[in-house]
Amino acid sequence: MEVLGIDIGGSGIKGAIVDTNMGGLISERYRVPTPQPATPEAVAEVVADIIKHFKWKGVVGCGFPAPIRHGIVKTVANMHKSWKGININQFFEHSIGNRFYVLNDADAAGLAEFEFGAGRNRKDVILLITVGTGIGTVMFTGGQLLPNTELGHVDFLGKTPEKYVADSVRTQLDMSWKKWGLRFDEVLHYFNRLFYPDLVIIGGGISKKFSKYEKYFTVNTEVVPAQLLNQAGIIGAALAARNGEIAYALS
Ligand code: BGC
Repeated sequence: MEVLGIDIGGSGIKGAIVDTNMGGLISERYRVPTPQPATPEAVAEVVADIIKHFKWKGVVGCGFPAPIRHGIVKTVANMHKSWKGININQFFEHSIGNRFYVLNDADAAGLAEFEFGAGRNRKDVILLITVGTGIGTVMFTGGQLLPNTELGHVDFLGKTPEKYVADSVRTQLDMSWKKWGLRFDEVLHYFNRLFYPDLVIIGGGISKKFSKYEKYFTVNTEVVPAQLLNQAGIIGAALAARNGEIAYALS
């Protein structure tokens, strides 16, 4: 099945057409900077622009950087506050017209890595951490995804993992890879004490730089970079739409 996948992030909104059978992009990636302020109306305009760019008439899968329960945006960290409480599927459907399946962006990346990437064929406990403007997390066990885990916002050393090790914080503070790697290791130890995952996958743009910081990790669990790199969010969003369409057809 071909689906348009869109990854809405704090700094960029990216889209591409995805072949959900092979888990890969079959078009080039089209990226538009996230409008500031990232209000629902401004973001919907960019999403509509991406759909127009691809002349796309079908369903759209979309990752969004917030916990989303049954279509409702529960809270927001890096987007405009007015998103809170909106039914995002209905909002996009009414303002744009296509059918939408919107889910948390880290959950989307997890779906892709689980089906086609570093988590393929694993049934044990997997924690994927996306490192970008924010910190996103997703957990799997027995092949099932636990949605909206939001571990980037738990209390940690008087702040949160997001405020301590997000890529936006690394660049703002001009941290060396050593400094960032040691910090991230502390976060990994903390998550490890909470969940003892069998595998940790690091996703987001930073996964491409894995060799620069891997040497600072001392945590006693397997840690690997995401295999789909920064395409995971787009591919996973498309997979969520495929899953939604299958469930809809069977209902
Ligand atoms: C949001 C998460 C999101 C993560 C990565 C966090 O600020 O709360 O929902 O997955 O950023 O974008």
